[in-house]
Amino acid sequence: MLCKNKNTMNVLLLGSGGRENAIAWKLAQSPLLKKLYIAPGNAGTASCGTNLEIDILNFEVVKKHTLEKQIDIVVVGPEEPLVKGIYDYFLADKELSHIPVIGPSAKAAALEGSKDFAKQFMAKYKIPTARYNTFTKETVNEGVAFLHTLRPPHVLKADGLAAGKGVVIPATTSAAENAFKEMLLEEKFGKASRKVLIEEFLMGIELSVFVLTDGVSFHILPEAKDYKRIGENDTGLNTGGMGAISPVPFADAKFMEKVKQQVIMPTIEGLKTEKFDYKGFIFIGIINCQGNPYVIEYNCRMGDPETEVVIPRIKSDLLALFMAVGNQTLDKTTIEIDPRPAATVMMVAGGYPEAYDKGKVITGIESVTESQVFHAGTKAVDGKVVTNGGRVLAVTSIKNTLKEAVEASYKSIAHIDYEKKYFRKDIGKDVGA
Ligand code: AMP
Ligand code: GLY
Repeated sequence: MLCKNKNTMNVLLLGSGGRENAIAWKLAQSPLLKKLYIAPGNAGTASCGTNLEIDILNFEVVKKHTLEKQIDIVVVGPEEPLVKGIYDYFLADKELSHIPVIGPSAKAAALEGSKDFAKQFMAKYKIPTARYNTFTKETVNEGVAFLHTLRPPHVLKADGLAAGKGVVIPATTSAAENAFKEMLLEEKFGKASRKVLIEEFLMGIELSVFVLTDGVSFHILPEAKDYKRIGENDTGLNTGGMGAISPVPFADAKFMEKVKQQVIMPTIEGLKTEKFDYKGFIFIGIINCQGNPYVIEYNCRMGDPETEVVIPRIKSDLLALFMAVGNQTLDKTTIEIDPRPAATVMMVAGGYPEAYDKGKVITGIESVTESQVFHAGTKAVDGKVVTNGGRVLAVTSIKNTLKEAVEASYKSIAHIDYEKKYFRKDIGKDVGA
């Protein structure tokens, strides 16, 4: 499948999760691809291209490999290199500045990196969101007073990146007061909680909306719903995500039009007005409150495991879209979406999201026929695939109905085994699957 004419490109994809395996799988199907490198990748991405065992936060090392491998475009999966400025690093370097980086500049990535910044942006551009205030150690007493003006439960958010753990929602006002003080005064989340937001609680159902933008125009990608808790019926500890479905049945055309008009368009306008360089994915966490969208967060990347249902539903050539993003010609492209529903079920390590073992041999992936198995935390060792993280595999199926898609994923999972495998058995049930 390698086309060696001048119109093909070498791509470097950064990241190592199920999200990157899904993106790599899609890029590998592009007739525009010459060679795909994934850094550091996992056992799944190794079958889509060549893995590079490098530290992607060390931009000097990324530069060395970019030049050595004659990379034509860099696609960034996770948020950390973006928040740390990889886009800007490339732009400022004479040898790299012609190479498009798919992802926002550090300034724009602050929409994910600082919740206070994101809230100020939403207020300025009149994007619907929960009422809030931000506090520091110096204003802790004002914060406690503000807490008492809101009805419980309260939503407390560390301002900075806290590995997905920076949001707590205590049930009572006194528990919220304690948690708030702990976050600020004891820096419970380190530097990330030097500022803490207190937000009103929004009642509704959550969904993830994805946009691909070149900073001027945009395509709305399929929306998705993820399942964050470890236990069935959304119980137990929060995880990175235990499964996802797309499309989302309660996000009908009328609701999605409101999302476009009230959230996406003002967000893109805001980016333009602020002169933020943004060439990449925007992931908008939204709560549907009685038919109206409210933004709970921005992320400057795709979601995981949402990517594992969103990407398989995109029929268009992803590499062509990325090139258009890099050249700011996205308005000249169209995007074709598979109308059929997709479901993914995450297989995780026993014990996750708390302590778990790694290095367990995984068997049976090759006997799966009805689903696409994306690797998350896996590694190839001596010709075997072993577990190498809490989230191990995402098993995705596309069928004519959501119920069939979910059933196909469960059927596929029955073929796969490793010691202490665990997965939720109710993905999609809440929306009729
Ligand atoms: P975040 O880390 O911002 O995604 O927040 C974690 C989770 O907290 C979200 O996925 C929501 O389920 C919940 N959450 C955040 N903000 C609110 C809010 N204002 N009202 C209700 N739930 C919220
Ligand atoms: N699935 C949620 C996230 O990627 O943040």
